[in-house]
This record gives sequence, C-alpha cells and structure tokens, in this order.
Amino acid sequence: MMLPPIPGPLRAPLDKAIEVNKAVLDLIRQSPPWKSIFRNPYPNTDENRALVMFNSFFLHIMPVKVKRNTLKWNYTFGMGLLTFYLFVLLTITGVFLMFLYVPAAGQAYTDMQRLGTNVAYGQLLRNSHRWAAHLMVLFVFFHMCRVFYTGGYKPPRDFNWVVGVILFVLTLLLSFTGYILTWDQLAASAITVGANIGAASPMYIGGLMKAFILGADDPGPPTLIRVYAFHVILLPFAVFTMVGVHFWRIRKDGGLSAPATGRKARQVIVPSTRGGFSVKDVPAVSPEAPLPAPPEEVRR
Ligand code: HEM
Repeated sequence: MMLPPIPGPLRAPLDKAIEVNKAVLDLIRQSPPWKSIFRNPYPNTDENRALVMFNSFFLHIMPVKVKRNTLKWNYTFGMGLLTFYLFVLLTITGVFLMFLYVPAAGQAYTDMQRLGTNVAYGQLLRNSHRWAAHLMVLFVFFHMCRVFYTGGYKPPRDFNWVVGVILFVLTLLLSFTGYILTWDQLAASAITVGANIGAASPMYIGGLMKAFILGADDPGPPTLIRVYAFHVILLPFAVFTMVGVHFWRIRKDGGLSAPATGRKARQVIVPSTRGGFSVKDVPAVSPEAPLPAPPEEVRR
C-alpha cells in the first residue's frame, strides 16, 4: 500500500520511527525464543506456506493443497465433518454426564431422573447428548450415502470405505450401549434382545456371546458395568483412533474424490436397449441454448 506523501518537518522523525520499529521487529524475529516457536520464515512463497503446514502441530492434519471443486459445499454437504463435530459434542457432554451418573444397578435410573429435577441444566445436558447421538447416526448414514453416490468408495479409496464401515458399526454400538445406561424397562428389553441376538450365533459361539454381553445369566449389575465401560472408554477410544486413520487415509488417497470434469461430467448412465446399462454422452448445456426436446418415448 502506498502511503500518502508526508509533509516536510514530519518526514525525518517518521522515517526514523519506521526504521527503529523494523530494527526491533528484526531483533525479536532473530531471537532464539521466537525462532524456537516459529521455525519458518514469513510464508510468502508456496514453499514457505507448505513448510508452515508441515511443521505446525495444529496445521499438519490439513492438506497443503486441495482440489478446488471438492470445496463445493454440495459435493460433500459437509456430512463427514458434521458427523465428526457431533462426536466431539458427544465427548464433551458425555464427560459432564459422567460427573452425574453412577453405573450401579440401584442408582443409575434415579441418577437419570435427578438430571431433570435436581441438577441445574441437567435436562439440557442429557438432551444435548441424546440428540447429538441420534443425529450422529443419521449423519453418518447420510455421509455413507454421499460417498456411495459420488463413487468415493472406488480405488484408491476402497480401504477408507472399509474404515468407514468399521466407524459405522462403532457408531451404532455407541448408540446401543448408551440406550442401555438409562437402566429403565426399555433398556432391560433392549439388552435382552441384544443378548439373544448374540446367543443365536452358531455353535458354541452363541453361549459365549450371551455371556460376554450380559456378564451373567440375566441382565443385572454385571451387565450395566460392562456396558458402561464399553460406552465411555472402549468404543469412544476405538472411534477416535479410527477417525484418525480415516482422515489420514483421505490425505494419502490424494484428497477427496473430485467430481468428474470434462467429457466424463457430460456422461450419463442409462438403461441399455440390450439389457444392463450403458454410458451415453449428453450435449453440453449453455444457459442461452433452448431446452433439448424430450426423448421420443417420453413424448409419446
Ligand atoms: C464417525 C464416522 C465418520 C466420520 C467422522 C467421517 C468423516 C469423514 C470426513 C470429514 C470426510 C471428508 C469428506 C466429507 O466431509 O464428506 C470423509 C470422507 C470419506 N468417508 Fe467418512 N466418516 C465417517 C464414517 C464413514 C462411513 C460410515 C463410510 C463408509 C462406509 C465413510 C467413508 C468415507 C470415504 C470413502 C471418504 C472419502 C470420500 C471421497 O473421497 O469422496 N466414512 N469422512
């Protein structure tokens, strides 16, 4: 930015002030404490910008470059990130709920009731956790549909699809185990159904599954404590780890899949007259061009 010309008598002191200011800044930037925190020079070239990303703990998870067209909001609808943010919200509200809930068969139900009557903002806390859980299941499903619809599951992203399936199962298990923690009649029915599904596994696995889920012959205190351990430690830890792998894989697979451009973008898959499907080119549409006539069979 060009500064307006400075009037004569002020010019010399101002020049001096700018010079001193620059010298002080240089001194700070050359000092060992500054250099130990900011290891790269000011990021004014592509290379320096990349170095800043690589060397910062907070930034290194972000890609240095992204394909421009994957930033279109309606390519991903942000479903994956929304699922991740819901998981973060669930972790925060879950930690607060742990202060107020004891996973003991005689106390769990009353603790849940007390949240609505005796605890300031307790109902808000409980509902935030519950709604975030419902939404996470919904959004993870929408995210999965989006990935399928845009072909994001195809090589080289096939392994990340598998990681995603594991995340999907973990999300459902978190939802199921959370439902049991209220320890009311619905929870008792749900765990009975869950244990009986496990018991239906073939051979001796069925008996083992049921014993593993219930920790006893019938739902009781051992069941609640193991469901609690799964809900607050094992499953969140597994999701956290797998989300890390999921994000890392996106980077390794060359970023998000991109919408097809060029000729591919103008191709459609249509039912073939010989059975099955075939690829067909559609004419490029310009805003001025008249709408194409509908195909023969539609007009009839
Ligand atoms: C806790 C659950 C999950 C989280 C937090 C999550 C997060 C994300 C995020 C943030 C992205 C970047 C693009 C976007 O926002 O759409 C992404 C991409 C992707 N996700 Fe997920 N995801 C989860 C579950 C799943 C599931 C269930 C599947 C499939 C079964 C899946 C498969 C994929 C694939 C293949 C990509 C790359 C897609 C592409 O390149 O177009 N993810 N995920």
